[in-house]
Amino acid sequence: MQNIRDLDIKGKKLLIRVDFNVPLDEQGNITEDTRIRGVLPTINYALDENARVIIISHMGRPKGQRMGKFSMAPAAKRLSRLISKEVKLAPDCVGDEVKAMIDRMQPGEVIMLENLRFHGEEQQNDREFSRKLAELGDIYINDAFAVAHRAHASVVGVPELMEEAAAGFLLQKEMDYFNRSIRNPMRPLVAIIGGAKVSSKLGALRNLLDRVDKMIIGGAMANTFLKSQGYGVGKSRVEDDLLDTASELVGKATAQGVKLYLPVDCIVADKFDPRAETKQTTVQEVPGECMILDIGPATTILFAEALEDAKTIIWNGPMGAFEMDPFSRGTMAMVQRVASSHALTIVGGGDTDVAIHRAGESNNISYISTGGGAFLMLMEGKELPGVTALTRRKQ
Ligand code: 3PG
Repeated sequence: MQNIRDLDIKGKKLLIRVDFNVPLDEQGNITEDTRIRGVLPTINYALDENARVIIISHMGRPKGQRMGKFSMAPAAKRLSRLISKEVKLAPDCVGDEVKAMIDRMQPGEVIMLENLRFHGEEQQNDREFSRKLAELGDIYINDAFAVAHRAHASVVGVPELMEEAAAGFLLQKEMDYFNRSIRNPMRPLVAIIGGAKVSSKLGALRNLLDRVDKMIIGGAMANTFLKSQGYGVGKSRVEDDLLDTASELVGKATAQGVKLYLPVDCIVADKFDPRAETKQTTVQEVPGECMILDIGPATTILFAEALEDAKTIIWNGPMGAFEMDPFSRGTMAMVQRVASSHALTIVGGGDTDVAIHRAGESNNISYISTGGGAFLMLMEGKELPGVTALTRRKQ
């Protein structure tokens, strides 16, 4: 994949697709700006090269409607602060007014266009819309890993139409870490998979079982596995329609010599409530009226031992309902364990990321991906349409 450094961008109009779909509070303030900070190397490099920088992004899911709460304005303001430079916000992302603004740009200036998803054509990958975007710049740069799994106009349509296209440093880095962690890992490679549902990670579980040496399963999804192995899980969240699938995955792990780790004890409560009375129990003795909300201390030790000799660790999904204090210990212990490991550690998915930040351990993880859906798609062994659009051009 070509990257921005391979092109002569001096003085050129660079159309840079980023993913500034960042969380906002009720007042519209950005609460977490990792995705904006993540593209600073690309933007600063473009500015050092005296390019004209045109930033394009989506925000939320406005479904083709212009909606104030999904404006790019907060992102433009934050970016401006981070690069200590004015970032003009265009009133739209296509049209004559936008074109005129871009025509007036001087080298070294930055403009952010308004939310691409204010136009339904973005998500429909409409050819004409792609053409309108493509004619705004000379060179297309994709630095939007987090949306690279969407075959949308600005992700796959525009690069096809532009003379030159390349990856930004963030996209490049995400793909490099992915290659080092799954395609060509130092072994043992251990995957830690948690979170609520087996169904949303089925593809990833199947693919990873072909690649990893060990797999650790925690979070509510472990309940389905436990039930499939004949344990009573009380009122726990379970996907009953996936019990056979879970059994099949356990069989696949055995057949392929993958060491599969499931919880051996857990923290239970009679309701999903931070004030609920909690109890620690083995998985053999979960009371019928209770639900499993975290892994227990014996499981924490077991999982830590499984990680002991790991050379590469890939982690997606928390070990329990960590947003509630009484059920956060398992996930927090896992954060500590992964952070103190000497392995290459790659983490993806919003919730896991939140847990790591909350524990103040983000600097002790080799790489935290900026993608949720895109990261999962890579774990499923699929190609990202946004990356394919760039690599296909080179052939
Ligand atoms: C994300 O946050 O995962 C990306 O920005 C993609 O957003 P989407 O799920 O609305 O397409």
